[in-house]
Amino acid sequence: MAEYVPGIVVAAEGKQTLCGSSPLNQDVDRVLISAEAIQARVRELGRRVDERYTGKDLLLIAVLKGSVLFLADLMRAISIPHEIDFLATSSYGASTESTGVVRILKDLNKSIERRHVLLVEDIIDSGHTLAYLTQLFSVRNPASLEIVTLLDKPARREVDIGIHWTGFSIPNEFVIGYGLDFNQKYRNLPYIGVLKPELYQSLADTELSASATLAPGAGII
Ligand code: IMP
Ligand code: MG
Repeated sequence: MAEYVPGIVVAAEGKQTLCGSSPLNQDVDRVLISAEAIQARVRELGRRVDERYTGKDLLLIAVLKGSVLFLADLMRAISIPHEIDFLATSSYGASTESTGVVRILKDLNKSIERRHVLLVEDIIDSGHTLAYLTQLFSVRNPASLEIVTLLDKPARREVDIGIHWTGFSIPNEFVIGYGLDFNQKYRNLPYIGVLKPELYQSLADTELSASATLAPGAGII
């Protein structure tokens, strides 16, 4: 078992100024984690992964789509040889609430048997996605199965899961940027920001009747 790497705790009131000239900035209430802080933390996680998996057959598995930026930076912070693979799980479209229903939309390309698997996640919220995935993968007989998540929202947890590596523990707010989306947008922001609540509230109001008829698995997270 690897050592547990606790997340750096980000304070709810931590205000930082917006960076860059993107028009998406105007939808951001405030920056929670700057691009520089993310990069520094990802480099540190990469060093820890190097130490833990030296001499082992390491496979990083990223959960699409939110983890893509984290994976891209993390793998460049890892100096030991490794492979990557992707899987996609379902979501409920434009909702900001996790449903607890998880479905695989795209499975892995290769077997994970006897390989050291590190699941790369963007954020752990209710925990349902990771609880489901760890159960699914553990019966495929990997040599080891651990989880690295950039963000953790412990206040929202509904199921217990063992997270081995955490970038940042954040307060209970809906965040966007660095791969994380709202309604498929904002993924390209280089920082983690808090979306202005009125944006998802107004969208939730207008889409409530539409989303009531939306089947689980309507979109990839
Ligand atoms: P779960 O509730 O732990 O199953 O989280 C499922 C997924 O919901 C995460 O992997 C994210 O893709 C998404 N998610 C949860 N919280 C947020 C958020 O604050 N912003 C953007 N996506 C989120
Ligand atoms: Mg995700």
